[in-house]
Amino acid sequence: MKKVIVGLLGCGNIGSGVVKLIAQMREDIRRHYQLEIEVRRALVRSTEKKRIPEVPASILTNDPDQVLNDPDISVVLEFLGGEQPAADYMARALRAGKSVVTANKMALALHWPELQRAAEESGSGFYYEASVGGAMPIIRMLQSSLQANHITRLSAIINGTTNYLLTRMTDEGMDYQTVLADAQRLGLAEPDPAADVEGEDASYKLSILSSLAFHAHIPVSDIQREGMTHISQVDIKCAGDMGYVIKLVASASREEDVVDAFVSPVLVPKIHPLASVKGAFNAVYLHGHAFDDMMIYGRGAGSAPTASAIVSDLICAAQESNAASSTFEVVEGLSESVRMAQDRTCAFYLRLQVKDNPGVLAHVASCLSGQKVSVRALQQPQGSGDGAQITILTHPAAESSIRKAVSAFDAELVTVMNVLRVEE
Ligand SMILES: NC(=O)c1ccc[n+]([C@@H]2O[C@H](COP(=O)([O-])OP(=O)(O)OC[C@H]3O[C@@H](n4cnc5c(N)ncnc54)[C@H](OP(=O)(O)O)[C@@H]3O)[C@@H](O)[C@H]2O)c1
Repeated sequence: MKKVIVGLLGCGNIGSGVVKLIAQMREDIRRHYQLEIEVRRALVRSTEKKRIPEVPASILTNDPDQVLNDPDISVVLEFLGGEQPAADYMARALRAGKSVVTANKMALALHWPELQRAAEESGSGFYYEASVGGAMPIIRMLQSSLQANHITRLSAIINGTTNYLLTRMTDEGMDYQTVLADAQRLGLAEPDPAADVEGEDASYKLSILSSLAFHAHIPVSDIQREGMTHISQVDIKCAGDMGYVIKLVASASREEDVVDAFVSPVLVPKIHPLASVKGAFNAVYLHGHAFDDMMIYGRGAGSAPTASAIVSDLICAAQESNAASSTFEVVEGLSESVRMAQDRTCAFYLRLQVKDNPGVLAHVASCLSGQKVSVRALQQPQGSGDGAQITILTHPAAESSIRKAVSAFDAELVTVMNVLRVEE
């Protein structure tokens, strides 16, 4: 029986879930993998805080050296959260020859080159399945199962909080502020929800997924990002009337050497598989030249689902040696093999408040056609104030053309309420 001695960096929501799952699965892991796991030490801020019974007070410490300098600890599991000191501690552990398993997308996405290099130089394992999609094995799929493919596209719902908010806004007709307050009360949204609702969390995850899928480092700074706070009940209703639901989508595509990557609210057709992903669930929809289309779906967060991915990585780390793997040559910025798209072509949704004047529609149509944007559908859902709201669905058009057309609208006649991308 092989024995692995483990040190934890953090023992909050995820760390406690990991200790609990190791205890629950101890016999199975012994029987199936001939592996004995000992959790020797757990770094926390407060050693006084009450924790679940599976976390004995004797393993808690607030001295990081007790984890990082213990020669018996061969695998370090990191779930401190945030960029620092998490990234520094992981780099120290890797340089000391310890394998590292992390759930921390922020520290990984922002310090990947440094961490990967440290792993390669010392020959230690570096695992991050839990950093994206909780329990879903999307990282391993991209690293190994889908190797024999040119992956050209991925569209993902990888932030459970925003998907939960948008689902309730859609299904229950609630406005953003009401559903956010409710989600905060239920512990499903942070007291400061900015990282989720502004799309930051999804952009860290998209950087990780797109880099692995396209064999090139796509840094977070090259991902265009737009949050969901400007999505109103009116947009959700208008999109619904036209056969769409609004989702916060993390999307990346590669054509030859051009990569396009963005996080933004998108109108998804109700018949698209991503439209059925509700509540806090996550999904990644991929296209590869050989496997065609595929979607993986599951719980993207939560203590037990995330612990499921971490303990699986831990078992791999204990069994493999020299397992530092990434699908691309690690460089600091954007890989030389690719360049980022300067423009993108897709269909757009425009919601406009227009003055009730004769000729307004002709003016809007002329601004759009002046940029060669053609209209696929136009709806006038409701009158409001001294004007009317109209929604327009365009045929695929360059985003730059849409921006130019919108800026040509006469501000006396037309107020642009929202412009959103449409997934086909
Ligand atoms: N929550 C999820 O569903 C989920 C899902 C996937 C990935 N993740 C990732 O997992 C990580 C942890 O999330 P979490 O929800 O478990 O967070 P959490 O509940 O806030 O736990 C953080 C833990 O780290 C400790 N800690 C933080 N900073 C420290 C420092 N400077 N020195 C010593 N100890 C420190 C805290 O100590 P105290 O306990 O003493 O405060 C706590 O035990 C994050 O990177 C997150 O993105 C979370």
